[in-house]
Amino acid sequence: MGGKRIRLVLIASPLQGHMTPMLQLGTYLHSKGFLITIAHSEFNRPDPSKHPEFCFLPLCDHLSRVGLSVGVIKFLQVLNDNCKPRLKEYLIEIINTRKDNESIVIIHDNLMFFAGSAASELGLPFFIFRSSSAVFYPAYKIIPLLHQEGRFPAQDCLMQEIVPELPPFRYKDLPFMDRPIEQTLELIAMITPHTPPCAFIHNTVEFLEQSALARTRNRYQVPVFTIGPLHKMTRPLATSFLEEDTSCMSWLDKQTPKSVIYVSIGSLATMDEKLSTEMAWGLANSKQPFIWVVRPGSVRGYEWIEFLEQGLINEMKGRGLIVKWAPQKEVLAHFAVGGFWSHCGWNSTLESLSQGVPMLCQPFNTDQLLNARYLSYVWKIGVEIVVEREEIEGAIKRVLVGIQGEEMRNRAMEIQEKVKVAINYGGSSHNSLKDLEVFILSL
Ligand code: UDX
Repeated sequence: MGGKRIRLVLIASPLQGHMTPMLQLGTYLHSKGFLITIAHSEFNRPDPSKHPEFCFLPLCDHLSRVGLSVGVIKFLQVLNDNCKPRLKEYLIEIINTRKDNESIVIIHDNLMFFAGSAASELGLPFFIFRSSSAVFYPAYKIIPLLHQEGRFPAQDCLMQEIVPELPPFRYKDLPFMDRPIEQTLELIAMITPHTPPCAFIHNTVEFLEQSALARTRNRYQVPVFTIGPLHKMTRPLATSFLEEDTSCMSWLDKQTPKSVIYVSIGSLATMDEKLSTEMAWGLANSKQPFIWVVRPGSVRGYEWIEFLEQGLINEMKGRGLIVKWAPQKEVLAHFAVGGFWSHCGWNSTLESLSQGVPMLCQPFNTDQLLNARYLSYVWKIGVEIVVEREEIEGAIKRVLVGIQGEEMRNRAMEIQEKVKVAINYGGSSHNSLKDLEVFILSL
């Protein structure tokens, strides 16, 4: 550090898929000598006892009782409005007491945009950390463009006709299309950076998303660091808000290689009883061993798995496990796991790619439809599924035992190898992390 002391204030978002990579980034940067403060909301707060190397700054959000039930727009508004005063107070405190050799840099999650404006107001440099796929950001910006021009493309229309540099995703893959257009536009306006940061940090790998990254670089003309997959750049961390059921690991030890299908729809998605029942019958009829994560509350109207009727439970008995939350990274790394049926959240996608596991894609919203398109159409290591029992049964068999599955697995293992190259010495992610350190020191 050449006698410099740099405090990085990391402003984390209270969503699991955002909090985890932010804590991983903090851990990496701490190991390089930076001082780290994690500023976080009260809702879904990280556990300081699990990260003794960090300072923690709780910000009052007044969201703990309502959480996301108020809807995403209101949630983001309240979160950003309420968290700003305490952050600014803290920053002023540390600015006023810092020594000559000390500097302060902000790294904020893209959903915590209040921190970018607080930093600008105080003249501090700030970075935007993006934990979704890089394609998500240029993709959602197509929507206001289409709206302004009064264009309503067909659902299957390729968006490359509008933005040629982007991957071949369709109109129906665009994010936020599950709500009235006014709300979509409001949301996009809210999360689009108003003041360019001094750089972007993406939890992605350069070779996976070159065209989307080029678009961001051209648009903002600031450095874009691609340092993922972050879970491979640090030691394993305890970052789950829910308790992991580790009993599935010894169960996996008893299964044959590549025979188990692992099923999870991530930390936010919810389903109705009908869809969940179709999933259950598909799993039961496939006759393959499985681990199914049913997050408490993820089946609307039920606390957990009360929606499963006895006949179904009998069908599934002995063949699989249903858990509330799994140690996902370890599960995906286990020799017995042969496929991942996923909502295609970006962390899950990166975790599967890093282990060479082919996927069944059931996207819900945000970047998940784009990620599913990458998986099934660009990288060709996943199949998009229709959630009906016969379809699921067929898709599970195709991925786990069929020739198509074999081919997908081979391609997935090729990607796994490329990811290894990227994270090792001299690889793109390794170099990008080094460049990020140098860039921070130069500020
Ligand atoms: C959300 C969005 O849905 C996603 O598209 C965006 O990119 C990030 O925020 P989320 O639903 O949380 O994502 O999914 P994902 O990004 O896949 O993150 C889930 C995390 O929870 C993963 O790191 C996964 O390993 C972990 N997880 C999930 C567990 O540890 N155990 C589980 O049982 C399920």
